[in-house]
Order: sequence, then structure tokens, then C-alpha cells
Amino acid sequence: MIRFEQASVTYGGGVRALNDIDVEIADGEFVVVVGLSGAGKSTFVRAINGLVPLTSGRLEVNGVDVTGLSRRRMRDLRADIGMIFQSFNLVNRTTVLNNVLMGRLHRVPTWRTVLGLYPRDDIEIAMRSLERVEIVEKAYVRASNLSGGQRQRVGIARALAQQPQIILADEPVASLDPPTSHVVMRDLQRINRELGITTIVNLHFLDLATAYADRIIGLRAGELVFDGPGSEADANVFERIYGRSLTADDTMDKAAAVI
Ligand SMILES: Nc1ncnc2c1ncn2[C@@H]1O[C@H](COP(=O)(O)OP(=O)(O)OP(=O)(O)O)[C@@H](O)[C@H]1O
Ligand SMILES: [Mg+2]
Repeated sequence: MIRFEQASVTYGGGVRALNDIDVEIADGEFVVVVGLSGAGKSTFVRAINGLVPLTSGRLEVNGVDVTGLSRRRMRDLRADIGMIFQSFNLVNRTTVLNNVLMGRLHRVPTWRTVLGLYPRDDIEIAMRSLERVEIVEKAYVRASNLSGGQRQRVGIARALAQQPQIILADEPVASLDPPTSHVVMRDLQRINRELGITTIVNLHFLDLATAYADRIIGLRAGELVFDGPGSEADANVFERIYGRSLTADDTMDKAAAVI
């Protein structure tokens, strides 16, 4: 479980990126965080894996208070959290399989990985992760030879190979075209349902959020302005989150149709 209690983050320059947030995310939930650029979405997910410390308040992840964790405890926490990035963060000059095996780094001693000696079990876990995102036939292809959508599926497989309890995805589809975005969101949703991994996804477009989220959290200037089921995120809610009414640019499929 993830629990923010009166949590605030103020950055060095004085920007209050999260302001007194109270939110609880239960194990196995699929939550999408939406909001304008600068609303605090990335800060929210980075706080969960301890990358951004709270300035005040409390944040508990899996029963552990994230503030003031020792290095070792922080490493343990991060081993349980899989990260998925907008820019995929793959190592392009090596194979898909090696990229996915990097998800095992938290669990395998470094000297083994330097020598490329992953235990057989790890290779099996990596191959099964690739199967989950239906890209196992690319295992021995160099990551540089993949399309954007394929790269993101490798990013998901790498997170899965970590066997995480939580997956955090910060704008995972922002570099992809609409059809591919849907494929990746469907993968994330399916994995959440099949494996019960708590999943938190930051998204720019509200239509994509309502299509896939069980629950939407709306942030605006660091404040939590909406927290409810995707089905309730109507035009009024949109206005509360974005401070204006909906335009074609705000929905992925319409924005793409204009291009
Ligand atoms: N390292 C930092 N130092 C100072 N200010 C920061 C830092 N990171 C973020 N901010 C500020 O904190 C606020 C929230 O930023 P955050 O990156 O969480 O927003 P976001 O919702 O993820 O935006 P985007 O949609 O553009 O990714 C913004 O005003 C941003 O400028
Ligand atoms: Mg961001």
C-alpha cells in the first residue's frame, strides 16, 4: 500500500510541487495521474521511489516510511519498484534480452552481471517477461533495431523481470503515436490485472486516462483536485484539473486527427 499523509514537496527554487497531499493507493490498483505540465505528476511518482524527498508530511510505501530511509533500505525499496520511462532508457548497443536482464540487477551480485553471468532462472524470468508483452521473438535483436512501441514493451518487460510489487510509469506513451499508445496502455492494464502489480501511470491526455484507469488522480499546481473512478472524469472534472474547458488538443485521438 502507498499512503501520502499531508505530503508536500518544495524544490530548491521555492516551487511547491506537491502541496499537502493525502492519498491512499491500495495493493493492485491501476491509477492514472493527470494534470497540466508542471502540476506535480513526476514529483508524485518520484516521491514514491524516494528520488524526491518530502519537505513535510509522511509517505509510506509497503509499510515503510520513505522519509529518512538508510541507503540500504532505500535500495531494498527500489528493488520492489519497477520504473518505466517516456524515453524507454534502453541500452541500444545490446540485445533486448540483455536489456530485460538488467531488471534483475537488483537481485544478482554485480560481479556476475559484469561477466554476463546471469543465473539460468534469471534468463527464464526475462524470457517470460518478454512473452507477457508479446515480443519474445525479438530477444536476440539489438535494442537499436526496434520501433518506439517495441522499445517501450521492452521497457515494460525489464520492469517485470524485476518482479516488482509496484510499477511507476512516467508518461510512458508520450513518445508514441496513438495506436501504439493504446497497445502499450493495454499491456500495462493487462499486466496489472493478471499479476496484480500496483500500477501508477502519469499521462498527459485525459481520454487515454479515462479509457484505461480504474482510478484517476488529478493534480493542479501541486494540489490534489480530483480523485475518483475514470468513469466520473467528465468535462467538469476536466475543468477542475486543467482550469479551462476541454479542447481537441487535450484528447490524444482528436489531437492526432488534426495532425
Ligand atoms: N529538480 C527540480 N528543481 C526545481 N524545481 C523543479 C524540479 N523538478 C520539478 N520542478 C518544478 O516543480 C513543479 C512540478 O514539476 P513536475 O515535474 O512534477 O511536473 P509534471 O506534472 O510532471 O510536469 P510535465 O507534464 O511537464 O512532466 C514544476 O513547477 C517544476 O518546474
Ligand atoms: Mg513530468
